[in-house]
Amino acid sequence: MSSKLEALQRWVDEVAALTRPAKIHWCDGSDAEYQQLVQHMLQTGDLIELNQQTHPGCYLHRSSPSDVARVEHLTFVCTKEQDDAGPNNHWMAPPDAHAKIDALFDGCMEGRTMYVIPYCMGPIDSPLARCGVEITDSPYVVANMRTMTRMGAAAQARIEREGTFVKGLHSTGELDPERRFIMHFPEELTIKSYGSGYGGNALLGKKCHALRIASYQAKSEGWLAEHMLIVGIENPQGETHYVAAAFPSACGKTNLAMLIPPEGYRKDGWKVWTVGDDICWMRPGADGRLYAINPEAGYFGVAPGTSDATNPNALSTIARDTIFTNVAVTADNQPWWEGLPGTPVTDWQGRPYDPANGPAAHPNSRFTVSAKQCPTWSPRAEDAQGVPVSAIVFGGRRPSLIPLVFEAKDWKHGVLVGAAMGSETTAAATGAVGVLRRDSMAMKPFAGYHYGDYFRHWLSFDKPGAKLPKIFHVNWFRKGDDGRFMWPGFGDNLRVLQWMIDRVEGRVEGDQTPIGTLPKANELKLDDLGLDRATVDALLHVDNAGWSTELAAIGEYLDSFGSRMPNELHAEQQRVAKA
Ligand code: GDP
Ligand code: PGA
Ligand code: MN
Ligand code: MN
Repeated sequence: MSSKLEALQRWVDEVAALTRPAKIHWCDGSDAEYQQLVQHMLQTGDLIELNQQTHPGCYLHRSSPSDVARVEHLTFVCTKEQDDAGPNNHWMAPPDAHAKIDALFDGCMEGRTMYVIPYCMGPIDSPLARCGVEITDSPYVVANMRTMTRMGAAAQARIEREGTFVKGLHSTGELDPERRFIMHFPEELTIKSYGSGYGGNALLGKKCHALRIASYQAKSEGWLAEHMLIVGIENPQGETHYVAAAFPSACGKTNLAMLIPPEGYRKDGWKVWTVGDDICWMRPGADGRLYAINPEAGYFGVAPGTSDATNPNALSTIARDTIFTNVAVTADNQPWWEGLPGTPVTDWQGRPYDPANGPAAHPNSRFTVSAKQCPTWSPRAEDAQGVPVSAIVFGGRRPSLIPLVFEAKDWKHGVLVGAAMGSETTAAATGAVGVLRRDSMAMKPFAGYHYGDYFRHWLSFDKPGAKLPKIFHVNWFRKGDDGRFMWPGFGDNLRVLQWMIDRVEGRVEGDQTPIGTLPKANELKLDDLGLDRATVDALLHVDNAGWSTELAAIGEYLDSFGSRMPNELHAEQQRVAKA
């Protein structure tokens, strides 16, 4: 096969001339192709068969132990002007970046197959969807891209019709962290990634395209590309509200997207519909509301902590046809991670399990699975026009200060709340874990341009005729003096979502506080939860002294973006600080 589109064929030829593969394979996305890839990887050891009785179609991939997460220090946004990338990104001048990484690509595919993967982010017929082509030498990447995107012939046909596509070049290289770069050229709609096979670094449709490049495109085209789940909440009357929520990596997006209502809610007829678990593209519709699509077709989810107690939906989703990466295995060859019953015998590196070596599954071990396998998968995920968004939620891991939930006064305040987001770092990125950092809109690692311009873009949606969602902030991760989470989380988070929807519908009034509107204690349905009164009060308490320190820190953070930071946000920070 080849392409009718000259620009595509020319680029593939150029890449082949640089990387010198033995063979070129154009991916059609068929089942037969997938099966052949799997067979090939079972032979090379890239995949290991798991127990096919208990987990049909499931395989394990063990990565290099030094290649288990995103590498923010090696990720660059290469705009012509350094200032366009902003202090929130690492930057390199495009000619230098190309020279540096092309030297690594030189001859790197010798003796190997080069795969050409046409893919579409979003429903194939959606005006909000965007296409790309990833070239890679990794069959593992091909298999994952098939699950995570609409990959193959239909995407190629759309690319040939439209004539434009994002170019992504990837090689696993030597998996040497010293020879690893993830480079983005937003002005050229180009991505080059070398030296890592990890999802966020190597599945270029995901973070690289659908967030970094797309956020840059979205700015000039008037839409938003965000690190958000999309979930539909259906009440007993059959009305469904869609909520989009931005939490940093490993802070609960996948879990919230597929939550199971508490028993009382289930009995009453509440239902949850999963549209997306990681990325959301939104644009204003003709009626002024924001409409959202999930550009992805699968979930690349965190395995540890996924259990019958926390997320039975995820467990049944991954019971078949799933690729597991860096999990442990049991004596009868079932996948295992911390949080599951049973005992591991082999750890994520393939060693006999020894607690002295740390957790059996890597803390950032993952599953890759088709979204449609989720029992709560929403058919609206295929809706070309997207779903209308009633509420936007920001949140992160904050062991203290930040209450369970509060509502921003208006859109401008909501943008400040998103900009001010902080969270403890997690194993999803290489580096220290548990360190509090600012992560505006959960986009610190993903905004493909200057955060000041990004906040200005967010503010620009507030214009005449707009019917914008309400904006909320949540914190599922408050800790008590005993170091334990005070809020039960998971399914019980629906109690908080219900309050948000009640606010959207004007059914509850809440309490006005200087930081925003909080629920009155009786507006949250907590009666069947068994939380003591002191805990509830603490979760809904606004600590004025703590907040004035926090607001001062937020002010300094906004200042750090210099003159591109919109004055409106400075003014908004002042308003809240003085309230
Ligand atoms: P994502 O990376 O943002 O999609 O986060 P996940 O939904 O995969 O969750 C990451 C980790 O946080 C997992 O170990 C979950 O078990 C845990 N988690 C998710 N939701 C909650 C919650 O509501 N409360 C608590 N305490 N932990 C949660
Ligand atoms: P996550 O996705 O947000 O589900 O952790 C992967 C990532 O952000 O690296
Ligand atoms: Mn993510
Ligand atoms: Mn997730």
